[in-house]
This record gives sequence, structure tokens and C-alpha cells, in this order.
Amino acid sequence: MADLDDLREGADFNTSIPVKQTGFHIKGAENLPWGMKDRLNRIFNPQTGKTVMLAFDHGFIMGPTSGLERIDLTIEPLIQYADSIMCTRGILRSSVPANCNKPICLRADAGTSILTELNNNVVIDIEDAIRLNTSALAIMLAIGDKSMEAKTIANLYQTVDKATRYGIPVMGVTAVGTDMARDARYFGLASRICAENGANVVKTYYCDGFEKVVSGCPVPIVIAGGKKLEEYEALDLCYRAIQEGAAGVDMGRNVFQSEAPAAMIQAVHSVVHEGLTARQGYQLYTELKEKS
Ligand code: R5P
Repeated sequence: MADLDDLREGADFNTSIPVKQTGFHIKGAENLPWGMKDRLNRIFNPQTGKTVMLAFDHGFIMGPTSGLERIDLTIEPLIQYADSIMCTRGILRSSVPANCNKPICLRADAGTSILTELNNNVVIDIEDAIRLNTSALAIMLAIGDKSMEAKTIANLYQTVDKATRYGIPVMGVTAVGTDMARDARYFGLASRICAENGANVVKTYYCDGFEKVVSGCPVPIVIAGGKKLEEYEALDLCYRAIQEGAAGVDMGRNVFQSEAPAAMIQAVHSVVHEGLTARQGYQLYTELKEKS
């Protein structure tokens, strides 16, 4: 209880100074409620508006793929360099230190393995996502896949309904079927469909004409790295994506399968946040690799 005998009437209202009205730094998030903005702000650095998300959710479909055999040995040392991390609840609970203090983008769907056809049919219980203090949920959409398109759109839609209740953003992950063209038309369509169905962030792939994909999507786009490339090529991919409007990367294999993963993620970070060119990024990578 305040001391009632010392109640001082407020006088310093600065009525001539209007309250600062700034736009929020994350595309399409201006109208979201506070908790949602706070979680997105943890993922996207407020100084640059970008993120380096370290993805190591591959095991949920691929098993112990190269670089992810021992998460404790290979991934844990990299987490410090990431702005956010993307993984499954099983790996989070078993192998990610709870004091890592990084926002979690939780892989929230399951049901598929590399041994079978795409069969994505399980979505996480929202209470489990809350228990894990997730900053975002990631749901895959198979746009253009005749048997899975409607099911995966419904997964996203229902996840947005549940997550929005608790202020948790959702990232739509565009899966590309083998018979899909990996071009701006397809990625633009898939990304826009994610956003239209409520995704607050979209993960897709870089392609020629990427600026059109970004422009047609009302929420931030982060790019997946895809298959392992030479380090210079991977940094060039990041550079081009950022220059053409990506809000960051959600990168896995090109980091954890690199010859020097810690050097690589730091180089990626500098390209994403500091505007280093691919050449400058590669130079940083080689310097850090030599020191390690
Ligand atoms: C793919 O479904 C997974 O969500 C990966 O997290 C994503 O593709 C990013 O990893 P990578 O850079 O290895 O493609």
C-alpha cells in the first residue's frame, strides 16, 4: 500500500511532446498483441530486424544425419552464436541446455520419415509448447502436393488458432516436393499461402527473382540453407537473400556440416546482421577457422 500521506499529484505530463509512435521492426507485426511482438522481437534482432536461426530439427525425419549424431558435441557449442534455434521437443528436452537463453522455434509437426511418403499428421499439444517456453512454432506446408496440401494447410491453420490464444507466433515452413519447380512463382505462391493462413514468419528457399517472393509476402521470410554447399557459395546465398529482402536465415546443414561450424555460423551472422559481402564473410570464415 502506498503511503497515503505522501501522495504527490503528477505535474510533469509534457503535454507538448507527443508520444513517440514508431513502427514495429518486424514486417506485418504492427497489429499483433504485446506477447506476440515480444516473442518475435526475441527472434528478430531489434537493431537489424534480422535473425540467424540455427536449425537442427532434421532428425525428426532423417534420423541421426551427418553432423547431428551427437547434438551435445556438435550443436551445443554453436548455440551461443545463433539468435534463435529450431529443433524438436525431444532434442530440446534431452540435449539443449535450459540455460542457453535463446528463443526457441519449435518444430511442432510430425508424422513423416524419409522411409515413407509424406505423411504429416501430428501437431504438438499447445500446452507442451507453452511448457517449453517456445517463442514460435514451426509447421510444414506441402503446397502443390495433391495428397498432403489440404492436410498441411489445416495443420497450420489450427496451430495458428491455438498458438494465437497464448501469444505464440507460428512459422510456416514451405516443403518442396520433388516435382515442384523451385522458382519464384512456386515459392511466392507457397509463402503467400502460409501468410494468408496466419503464419507470422515464413521459411522458404532462395531462388532467382527472390525479391518478388519477399514483396508478395506480408510477413518476414527467412531462408533455409538447403543441401551442403561450399562455404563461399553458402555465404553468397545468404548475402543475396539478405540483399533481396530476407529477414534472415534458418540454416542447418551449411553450418553443422561445415568443416568449421563455429567459424561458419559467425560468418553467416556477419553477413546477415552487418551486411558483409560473401567475399568478406568468407574471409572472416577462413580467419576464424585458422584460429580454431
Ligand atoms: C526442414 O524441413 C528443416 O525444417 C530444416 O530445419 C530446414 O530445412 C533448414 O535446414 P537446412 O539449412 O539444412 O535446409
